[in-house]
Amino acid sequence: KPKGAKEPKSRDRLLDMFEAAQGEYLSGEEISRRLGVSRTAVWKQIRRLKEAGYVFDAAPKLGYRLADSDSALDARRIQAALTTSRFGRELTVLSKTDSTQTEAEKKAHEGAIEGTLVVAEEQTSGRGRQGRPWHSPPGLGVWMSAVLRPEGPLTAVPQLTLLTAVAVCRAIRVVSGVEAGIKWPNDLLADGRKLCGILLEAVVEDGRVRHCIMGIGIDANLSESDYPEELRSKVTSLRRESGVEVDRSALIAAVMNEFEMLYGLYNERGFEPIRLLWESLSVTLGREIVVRDLKGERRGIAHGLGEQGELMMRTEQGEIIPVYSGDIEL
Ligand code: BTN
Repeated sequence: KPKGAKEPKSRDRLLDMFEAAQGEYLSGEEISRRLGVSRTAVWKQIRRLKEAGYVFDAAPKLGYRLADSDSALDARRIQAALTTSRFGRELTVLSKTDSTQTEAEKKAHEGAIEGTLVVAEEQTSGRGRQGRPWHSPPGLGVWMSAVLRPEGPLTAVPQLTLLTAVAVCRAIRVVSGVEAGIKWPNDLLADGRKLCGILLEAVVEDGRVRHCIMGIGIDANLSESDYPEELRSKVTSLRRESGVEVDRSALIAAVMNEFEMLYGLYNERGFEPIRLLWESLSVTLGREIVVRDLKGERRGIAHGLGEQGELMMRTEQGEIIPVYSGDIEL
């Protein structure tokens, strides 16, 4: 039961009131009078906002004030920053879910339109590529999934994954200034450490793509201590790279804006312009790589991206061969 869509109106009015108070305290009595609800109802509403990530200061005689409204994900702030016509317009913000992939998949199954977006403060079983878990602690990251309804064949799905990486990379650069780069096929790195992962899951029916779920996980404001020990040397966050907290709502909107623009370009002109953008943002090309897939381990130099989005690798024998899937090591 997604909460975001059916959030009661009084919640919005309460938030408006706190925002208008600009960090000043509002007493429970005043709020209850202005909203026309009981003190208990006010208290419950505040508790719900806290659960959704809003931070309140409470003072015995003064009441409550909104301490830091920027730190919580907020549907209204996300939507205010959208320049899209479709992506992110249907939006659900959850405080906690098992995986936004699962939530978005349910919505797609029920007929949700393309661009429908699900965002969560926390995922209890976030998932990554190849069955790996995705660490998604509360209040610190961007964990989101959008519904895609692409026209093309199943073989075009890898191209959409690369397109997503370009969109997220550009959004990150705009919002945080962090010079993220793309590692084939779709990890974003800064300083050689992973910042963001992308997971595109396609639901196929009669050999055609019924819909895709585009999952994006960005380590926005995590600190080293927010990761399990074994990940620490391999990952980083935007906050760590830039030194300042990133506004996650602005970042989410920026990803949607970039995505819709590039997706439009892709639908009009095909993969070629995306391929070129991808290559320009790539940290993989020209580097020595090790490919591990079902065929075993192969070494070579990353040479470029093929027409389908496959990685072209120059082997030690000087042959250029395509790599369609698997993981690479730089
Ligand atoms: C990877 O690098 O392995 C992909 C990670 C994808 C993580 C995101 S977070 C939002 C969405 N929900 C999930 O459970 N996974 C994706």
